[in-house]
Amino acid sequence: MIDIADFRQRMIEARAYTKALFATIEPADFCHQAHAEFSPVGWHLGHIGVTEGFWILQQCQHAASLSPEYDLIFSPLDNPKENRINLPAAQEIFAYLDEVRARVFAFLERGDWSDSHPLLGEGRLLNMLLQHEEQHTETILLILNLLAARRFDAGDGGSFPASAVPRRSPPPRSGQTTMVRIPAGAYSMGSDDRARTLDNERPAQQVWLEEFRIDPTPVTNADFLEFMDAGGYRNPAWWSQQGWHWREEHHIAHPLYWRHGSTQGRWLEIDPFDVSPLDPAQPVRCVSWYEAEAYARSVGKRLPTEAEWEKAAWWDAEQHAATAQSDLLAPRLDMLGGVWEWTNTWFHPYPGFQAFPYDGYSVPYFDQHHRVLRGGSWATRRHVLRPTFRNWYNPGMRAVFAGFRCAKDAVS
Ligand code: AVJ
Ligand code: FE
Repeated sequence: MIDIADFRQRMIEARAYTKALFATIEPADFCHQAHAEFSPVGWHLGHIGVTEGFWILQQCQHAASLSPEYDLIFSPLDNPKENRINLPAAQEIFAYLDEVRARVFAFLERGDWSDSHPLLGEGRLLNMLLQHEEQHTETILLILNLLAARRFDAGDGGSFPASAVPRRSPPPRSGQTTMVRIPAGAYSMGSDDRARTLDNERPAQQVWLEEFRIDPTPVTNADFLEFMDAGGYRNPAWWSQQGWHWREEHHIAHPLYWRHGSTQGRWLEIDPFDVSPLDPAQPVRCVSWYEAEAYARSVGKRLPTEAEWEKAAWWDAEQHAATAQSDLLAPRLDMLGGVWEWTNTWFHPYPGFQAFPYDGYSVPYFDQHHRVLRGGSWATRRHVLRPTFRNWYNPGMRAVFAGFRCAKDAVS
């Protein structure tokens, strides 16, 4: 049996965060499509409500839809992306979300919470919906970053809204740069926790890896600037054929949110609520998989596989448990909550994968066109942040809060 009061509290908190994001969004931005791959923020808002209603009210309570019209508008399948600029008014969507939520909370009091219930049991569906909302709030934030850049580029450099949400401060940097050796051996990758993980993380599997080395921190802005200043974007030797093609086609010469400052050689960086001098110590962010791959090659390294990434994350956690008192001796790998980290692995099903609760969550993306990202960014909320979570995007995607760290074989 699960603690309903606790879930209700977490759902309230997740929704308060979602709503806070909209406090500073101007009406014109609400239904503006900032990027061909991303719907307007207003669409994400309605989609959060429709998804919650669909799974709890329709699938579990067997109630009729509150609004077939909303079901269609906010459907990721049936409403084409270019059509999603046509939305109901924000106030109407908020009222809809409140109505769904009121009915969901009423249902929670009388749902069948036995562990054997395929959807509700062990809190499976509620955990899925919390993560669904939190994934969409991160997407809303990355769209706000795209909109901020648009305003900046239109010459509106000074007008940034006050930050709508607290920005998690970056973890202190250890200053360590030597690569960390992860010993050869087997570990358990993925999870059998059906209550809290998503379908693509399951089932757990034993994976044996050779010894490898991994950087203690993600590549920083200072590191990446060095690559740029050495002509990295102009040197085909560092790029894969596809990456070079992508770079030429889109005229890429620097990370997505870097802009020239007024002083020669100084860079600014645009974030969702601010533009400020590029911080050399922060992880580089909003680079594509192709840029990550090219950088790694330029320093004689490579991207880690997702198996290596996850093993390193567990190794890190173990080291810290073991050296809790003498913490200073252990290198901190800081793998969660800085930037999403690109890995060298195509998104694919683990052996024994079973779709849950629907085919459309993961299956369409097992297509050799999406690279796995691990870790989570400053904008990733707590229900999503864990070592086994798998994110995925096209290798040319730059808008995600993604950076990377490098790895290397043990002997090379
Ligand atoms: C895993 C973040 C790529 O936003 O497209 C949300 C998550 N799936 N609703 C996405 C998702 C359905 C997904 N990502
Ligand atoms: Fe969704």
